[in-house]
Amino acid sequence: MAERPEQEIPEQEIEVLLDEQRAYPPPEDFRRQAWIQNESIYREAAADPEGFWAAQAERLEWSRRWDRVLDWKPPFARWFVGGKLNASVNCLDRHLANGRGDRPAILWEGEPGDRKTLTYADLHREVCRLTNVLRGLGVGKGDRVAIYLPMVPELPVAMLACARIGAPHSVVFAGFSAQSLRDRINDAEAKVLITADGGHRRGGIVPLKAISDEALENTPSITGVVMVRRTGEDVPMVAGRDHDWAELMEGAADTAEPEEMDAEDVLYILYTSGTTGKPKGIVHTTGGYLTQVTATARAVFDLKDSDVWWAAADIGWVTGHSYIVYGPLALGVTQVMYEGAPDTPNRARLWSIVERYRVTCFYTAPTAIRAFMKWGTEHPAAHDLGSLRLLGTVGEPINPEAWVWYHREIGGGRCPVVDTWWQTETGSIMATALPGVTTLKPGSATHAFPGIALEILDRRGERVEVGGGLLAITKPWPSMLRGIWGDEERFRETYWSQWKDIYFPADGAHRDEDGYFWVMGRVDDVLNVSGHRLGAAEVESALVEHEAVAEAAVVGRPHEIKGEGIAAFVVLRESASSRDGLAAELKAHVARAIGPIARPDDIVFAADVPKTRSGKIMRRLLRDIAAGKAIGDTTTLADPAVVQKLREEYGDED
Ligand code: PRX
Repeated sequence: MAERPEQEIPEQEIEVLLDEQRAYPPPEDFRRQAWIQNESIYREAAADPEGFWAAQAERLEWSRRWDRVLDWKPPFARWFVGGKLNASVNCLDRHLANGRGDRPAILWEGEPGDRKTLTYADLHREVCRLTNVLRGLGVGKGDRVAIYLPMVPELPVAMLACARIGAPHSVVFAGFSAQSLRDRINDAEAKVLITADGGHRRGGIVPLKAISDEALENTPSITGVVMVRRTGEDVPMVAGRDHDWAELMEGAADTAEPEEMDAEDVLYILYTSGTTGKPKGIVHTTGGYLTQVTATARAVFDLKDSDVWWAAADIGWVTGHSYIVYGPLALGVTQVMYEGAPDTPNRARLWSIVERYRVTCFYTAPTAIRAFMKWGTEHPAAHDLGSLRLLGTVGEPINPEAWVWYHREIGGGRCPVVDTWWQTETGSIMATALPGVTTLKPGSATHAFPGIALEILDRRGERVEVGGGLLAITKPWPSMLRGIWGDEERFRETYWSQWKDIYFPADGAHRDEDGYFWVMGRVDDVLNVSGHRLGAAEVESALVEHEAVAEAAVVGRPHEIKGEGIAAFVVLRESASSRDGLAAELKAHVARAIGPIARPDDIVFAADVPKTRSGKIMRRLLRDIAAGKAIGDTTTLADPAVVQKLREEYGDED
């Protein structure tokens, strides 16, 4: 049995949030033009959630209509039972059939400044060609394809080609290490890997092909590699295994039959961190997923034909899957896609892009907003951001100061800011404002999306009307995960064992007197670094791989920009010769083992890792130490007497 997460809701944070009295009603001109102008949608959806979701599903193109909206045998839901459709047809073919093939789909900008526009017709042609290429490499319905690409147009093309074939894709964020890529390929038993020679990042090059080659040293399921040339560097190709994307595409036909998929066929797997070292392959299926990402993209971001959408996120995470690829493309909107870092070549890069493409709706993470704040208002002020009409955030709690800054400095005080709470597992937005309806409170994700049964419960499952507790989703929703790839037991244990037949997201939250939700963060041993989830256990296992390390315990600590930083408490082996330079070496070691995002901020050498009598790491104590609350100078933790004293003060945490 996995451990039950402790419920730890920082009291301080609750007080700060309760002090937050500012309120922002929807601007009247925004409300008047919004898709949703009336609160009645909440009542209607609550009265008949299945009817509400069926109406949303009607916006998609189905080759066979469903027989039943929902079949719920907890914890397994089937949505739109008997319905048939193809996701790539919904994102491409139907727009062409409606005479919208010439609309720009993707306005792409590379980090070095190169630009490309793909219309829906262009995208359709590329996807069909790649479909033929992949079929030629033996990829068929049900085969898994791993994708390890930078933010280039070939990435959405690859995903949609997989969707056309019915081959679940597993996109691996291009910042992950060879080991992380290998683990994900092996867990999904992917047949083909699609990668690039490299990607541009912060003025340098990430050598993706070299990393892939290292990963592929031990991946028996892989039979072929397709490589996009992005940087043009000379890279070794393995004969018989590696193929050049452009060469294969040249000879491929421009049309390709889509596979008719069942609503419940797997669309993709996306790996996310959990409380144990092994990442979980979150499984999403086709009909329900597409229904909810489309419904939320439309209602929350209010997207219209006249909009230019920009989710400044990476497709390697779920935000990009749902709100760069599937949601916006299913709606047929025009969007910006940017390859690189926000501070390359300078800190005004994103604002120059907003100005150039007249971006109207912009979505990013609080960690980015805090960085923009730190960089100073002169960067956004140097550009005309007058085209913006809506802003959004996702990934972690946003502190009210950052919210207000974003509203004022980026949105010019006129754009609603939608704070959207959801997870890799939920597939789409679950809590959010509706920008034409909701009075916003900075720092609050406000309300459940219509048709979503979001509650706050205590540990026993009693409903909390006003006050703090655990977030819970009490009814199935269309884009919910259908499982963890290959591990039903872990699926039940992780999400469905806290309460009976109720989904447990492992977030703490509270609800105020007006019924607004305030999400406060994880209650388990998962860190949220810059809006991305990392398992403490993953970082710990990377650390103990190092020859100098005997034991490690990793916790989060507040970080001004990243939200949460990583503090690692490390016990050295007696054989470890010297501590000189070791902290830097260990940081670099973790970055190599998992990826730069996992690089610890602090390494604290300790005499031992404080544990309870039953052997559980005393994480609350370590968190307080890392946050500077327990003792001033953390380096003294190397003294066994100090550890002993702290352990006594904190008592047994069992
Ligand atoms: O803790 C919550 C936080 O991010 C977690 C989900 O992480 P991931 O699966 O990587 O997906 C991120 C993008 C959807 C949640 O359990 N989180 C996400 N959005 C918010 C948030 N916390 C507070 N407010 C949010 N808006």
